Amino acid sequence: MSHIKACLFDLDGVIVDTAIYHYQAWKRLANELGFDFTEHDNEQLKGVSRTRSLEIILELGGVTQTEAEKEELADRKNKWYVEMIGKMRPDEILPGAKEFVQACRNAGIKTALGSASKNSMMILDKIGMTDLFDAIVDGNKVTKAKPDPEVFLKGAEELGVQPVDCVVFEDAIAGVEAAKAGGMKAVGIGEPAVLKQADIVLPGLSAMTVDKLNEL
Ligand code: BG6
Ligand code: MG
Repeated sequence: MSHIKACLFDLDGVIVDTAIYHYQAWKRLANELGFDFTEHDNEQLKGVSRTRSLEIILELGGVTQTEAEKEELADRKNKWYVEMIGKMRPDEILPGAKEFVQACRNAGIKTALGSASKNSMMILDKIGMTDLFDAIVDGNKVTKAKPDPEVFLKGAEELGVQPVDCVVFEDAIAGVEAAKAGGMKAVGIGEPAVLKQADIVLPGLSAMTVDKLNEL
């Protein structure tokens, strides 16, 4: 038995690796605007909202745009991104992700998605994981972006679980900060040197077990 009552999962970088699709769409936009956008630059966009991502890219390119133009650019990027994720398949689930979410459910632990993405529902549908979450909180339901804890606090509330009984799985610095700010435990997915605030850091969910939840 676990004393942890709920696990909350980020989507991009934890359940699926959509960073490559975000990157390709942002790069196409940058190129249309006349500058390049590298995979290195793309690291800065992990966990960051669509609007803020665009602002970072425009800053990198030294381009100034009006609010109306920015809206059109974000829409243009999203159209290309949606075309790509529309072709996603269950084999794009990151190793061990589906198995661990299922293991939580089997152990009586509630599960929620906590993502900044407004495209979460489409991705979950394409990879066939929608039914594995008791609550889904995405970019359409929150007003404050990570590192604000809103997305995870809403998830805990929907599950009827106290933050102190929750564990968050996150690959982004801002996401780990959001979990800690919400009074939750945080498991970082990635590099310990990067995700310094996390309680533990693992290379992926294939390294996680329900037993390990009790050690947090
Ligand atoms: C996050 C990604 O999950 O969602 C970010 O890590 C992305 O890179 C953000 O910008 C918003 O996604 P979307 O699908 O609403 O543009
Ligand atoms: Mg992420």
